[in-house]
Amino acid sequence: MSDKLLEVKQLRISFQTETGTANVVNGIDLTVYPKETLGIVGESGCGKSVTSLAIMGLIPTPPGKVQEGEIWFNGCNLLAQKKGALRKIRGNEISMIFQEPMSSLDPAFTIGSQITEAITFHEKASAAEVKSRSIELLRLVGIPNPEQRYKEYPHQISGGMRQRVMIAIALACTPKLLIADEPTTALDVTVQAQILELMNDIRERLHTAILLITHDLGVVAEMCDRVVVMYAGEIVEEATTELLFDRTAHPYTEGLLNSMPKLDGPKTRLTSIEGNVPSPTEMPTGCRFCPRCSYATEICWEASPQLVEIEVGHKVRCWYAKDILQQKGR
Ligand SMILES: Nc1ncnc2c1ncn2[C@@H]1O[C@H](COP(=O)(O)OP(=O)(O)OP(=O)(O)O)[C@@H](O)[C@H]1O
Ligand SMILES: [Mg+2]
Repeated sequence: MSDKLLEVKQLRISFQTETGTANVVNGIDLTVYPKETLGIVGESGCGKSVTSLAIMGLIPTPPGKVQEGEIWFNGCNLLAQKKGALRKIRGNEISMIFQEPMSSLDPAFTIGSQITEAITFHEKASAAEVKSRSIELLRLVGIPNPEQRYKEYPHQISGGMRQRVMIAIALACTPKLLIADEPTTALDVTVQAQILELMNDIRERLHTAILLITHDLGVVAEMCDRVVVMYAGEIVEEATTELLFDRTAHPYTEGLLNSMPKLDGPKTRLTSIEGNVPSPTEMPTGCRFCPRCSYATEICWEASPQLVEIEVGHKVRCWYAKDILQQKGR
């Protein structure tokens, strides 16, 4: 048996749009090992959410379609499962939390009834047992006075507390994998730090692997063991967090790092990467990052580079990856 918890192979996803077929995920390979946190980073529209929705079997079809690929979870190919079986795996072993905790909670029901529903979906237990387990879960995610909160409605608690409730609901089934899509983007900085700390704590206590989607490399540095950088539906760099920061080898990752505000550095203007992500219906023939890249030469415009392992634990999709490392004396 392999020790991989999740393995995505050559995933391709397209959407039908007015201007044609948009290939929004173009041959992604991902592996998540038990208990690790894997980060997926990249600018808006690069395919992070669509990839995670595919893992959950939630791509809206049509207009979306998984064109190709395999998604293996614990030895089972999710894409080959019937709907019922998939729902069972999704409910019992993989959970997902989203950016907007308010839109995922139903304003018309108490927090208690929503968490109770999540628990009864997974296991048969008496009403009293379910209630005490709900309160225990609310306590686990750091909600003060859970007995009181249990009776309240989503609008009565803060955004940070709502996200904690969503995490409690996601944990109701004690999942092996928690997919978190920008779980802290809608929260202010202090609350964001608390939620990230909670997720780290949960990983340590419950040994849940986490697939963390974010556009924030600061969050990656805090949370992730390994990172995948996506650009225009492809993986452009993949490395352990340490290698990604210390030995950055893709110009796009470099751009993302340069646009990160530095807490200890001089207060300079943020440099964001110039230009825009190409439209998924009009991708360049060569490297997809080429039009925005300061290293680009003829070959970059003509042929698209493969994702190549340039050193152990470090893959890069760039004709000049090795030169870039060398230039910097790395
Ligand atoms: N329902 C849909 N119909 C048509 N196109 C879609 C749909 N959902 C996503 N897309 C397209 O798929 C591409 C990838 O979208 P996705 O939501 O995965 O981006 P993302 O990386 O999560 O971005 P963000 O950081 O803004 O959340 C985008 O070009 C988007 O327009
Ligand atoms: Mg998204």
